[in-house]
Amino acid sequence: MAMQILATMKGQFQAKELLRRCRGFSQVADRETIAHEIESPIPKMPLFDYAPPPYDGPPAAEILQKRKQFLSPSMFYFYNNTPLNLVDGKMQYLYDDTGRRYLDAFGGIATVCCGHCHPDVVKAIVNQTNRLQHSTILYLNHAITDFAEALASKLPGDLKVVFFTNSGTEANELAMMMARLYTGCHDIISLRNAYHGNGAGTMGATAQSNWKFNIVQSGVHHALNPDPYRGVFGSDGKMYAKDVEELITYGTSGHVAGFFSESIQGVGGIVELAPGYLPAVYSSIKKAGGLCIADEVQCGFARTGSHFWGFESQGVVPDIVTMAKGIGNGIPLGAVVTTPEIAEVLTRRSYFNTFGGNPVCTAAGHAVLKVIEKENLQENAHVVGSYLKERLNSLKDKHETENSCKSRNTARDGPDERNGSVDWQRWNFWKCFPHYTSTLLFQGRCRFPCRCYGLHNVKDVKLPMKLKHLTLLDSCYATDLDV
Ligand SMILES: Cc1ncc(COP(=O)(O)O)c(C=O)c1O
Repeated sequence: MAMQILATMKGQFQAKELLRRCRGFSQVADRETIAHEIESPIPKMPLFDYAPPPYDGPPAAEILQKRKQFLSPSMFYFYNNTPLNLVDGKMQYLYDDTGRRYLDAFGGIATVCCGHCHPDVVKAIVNQTNRLQHSTILYLNHAITDFAEALASKLPGDLKVVFFTNSGTEANELAMMMARLYTGCHDIISLRNAYHGNGAGTMGATAQSNWKFNIVQSGVHHALNPDPYRGVFGSDGKMYAKDVEELITYGTSGHVAGFFSESIQGVGGIVELAPGYLPAVYSSIKKAGGLCIADEVQCGFARTGSHFWGFESQGVVPDIVTMAKGIGNGIPLGAVVTTPEIAEVLTRRSYFNTFGGNPVCTAAGHAVLKVIEKENLQENAHVVGSYLKERLNSLKDKHETENSCKSRNTARDGPDERNGSVDWQRWNFWKCFPHYTSTLLFQGRCRFPCRCYGLHNVKDVKLPMKLKHLTLLDSCYATDLDV
């Protein structure tokens, strides 16, 4: 069915008229380049039936000035010259204080999965807020149990016990602690180029220097990244898995608490793990007495399109799954799901979290699950993502030829990647997208509200899964023009 829709759509989009219209979509994000825009044919965004109310808040300059005065200098923002003052959101679009519409190609960092301000999610939040905003899990309330039941039904095997947290970092901290308690071991193996959060333990599991402060981070060993594109063993998942075996043999007592990995590295630049990697590693970890933990903070909740959870693409069942971001479509919410046996370890002391399981957040989370199902967002992500992947691959072929780049290895090993004839920034972007649906190449000339760069020069773009075929395909054509 999905492929049929795709074929029909492709046919439609080959029509010259439509292509011309699609070409109009490409626009600049920075106002500095507006002059150039005026010289080009005026681009048009696809029609959209929503007009935000007029903005009556303070001007962007005032907000920026207050931000500099009262907020931590560590809080960076995009578009340094003219930071965006985003004041409204509707489905896949964001609006600035002038009412200008932007296609949100970042989805609040892979968080807005149903679309901004989805009416069902908003309604669930408002209804619950009107009745009871907070009570803590020390009392009964059906919002938390209803959502826990619905969430558990989405997970395989014995993964049926849910702990709610407020963020992905908290969820991962809890998962690390449970693995250590359950196994009686301290050593955890995670992957180079991973991002698991910035708490005391999770910063240790995170393996990108720009997110690691110079503080004590103990008990985590970082294995070779099974990056099929840049990794030392190409896409040979079993060879990378051997590195984990060696870490266990040479870097630990032979027993470990667990193995932590994203199923697709998000912050690291949308890197899929080499095929066959997780089954091989999970087997070594189990032999060493450890637990396998899947961090689904970015790639869970149907974002990959092919599966609801990222780990399913490698055919494994983890012992602990952590989640956040897309779980709440923007509401602060995270969760750890594990088996009843592992969950039991937390009864050794009291584990409590004031806001974890808050009724407003869990009501929102439940609404998100319902929207994903009701609106077939997983299928939508699959259809749109597959088409996007195909288009990006065709761009790759085109630019490989034009730039005399013969293979991925040429790129990986090339001595003059950045200053040779290869336009590295443009040539290499395609690699970050396979299967990672709801992502979209963007260029400076596209009208997207983010400029986030992942690993090296990868353009790291994550759309709301709500994005409809037409608008995404429009964007693909637009980006074609820009490459
Ligand atoms: C894979 C992954 N795990 C954990 C986290 C941390 O989540 P949070 O920022 O909600 O603490 C992130 C955040 O980007 C993430 O991408």
